[in-house]
Amino acid sequence: MFRIGVLASGRGSNFQSLIDSIDSGAIKAEVACLITDNPDAYATERAKRHNIPHVYMNPASKDMYYNAIADELTRRGVELVALAGFMRVVKKPLIAAFPMRIMNIHPALLPSFKGLHAQRQALDYGVKIAGCTVHFVDEGVDTGPIILQEAVPVLSGDTEETLSARILECEHRIYPRAIKLFIEGKLKITGNKVIVEQ
Ligand code: GAR
Repeated sequence: MFRIGVLASGRGSNFQSLIDSIDSGAIKAEVACLITDNPDAYATERAKRHNIPHVYMNPASKDMYYNAIADELTRRGVELVALAGFMRVVKKPLIAAFPMRIMNIHPALLPSFKGLHAQRQALDYGVKIAGCTVHFVDEGVDTGPIILQEAVPVLSGDTEETLSARILECEHRIYPRAIKLFIEGKLKITGNKVIVEQ
């Protein structure tokens, strides 16, 4: 069975959407482990509920942190790493261990609004269309090859909360879809572009 490793820092609703897609049979894979950088991450409760191995890894280990995460994922036979609300910039040792095998979900239409508080950045800028992006992770911040995107309207009167909720619905659709395409070998990377084979 194809093995996915998930990294999360908080609520873990994207982690849940992956679990649900696996449980429904839409994705033929298993979550080999959840790694968190936060001992109170609600994602851990979700892992417990679904009997998924979970590890809290303390980021205080600094320089060796990403070596330790890479070792843990390798030891567990992980083939794809899914960042699911992991609020850190992933560093070289992990990227080198899983080249073009780490995916991230970002709550904006990249390359706009990289980094933190993407939904607030979109509101502050005044864009009329927002959305989310699944991309491979490279050494930049939210710069890797784009796999899937989905757009939502920004409505007058939107707050950060209402816009984030609208975007989150799309996240829960496109992240499992991107993971499924990867597992089925339908993503071909050429330079910074991802060709999705139908
Ligand atoms: C999601 O909106 C995700 O796109 C975002 O954090 C939220 C996590 O929610 N990620 C980033 O901003 C990464 N830079 P979740 O914990 O419920 O999946």
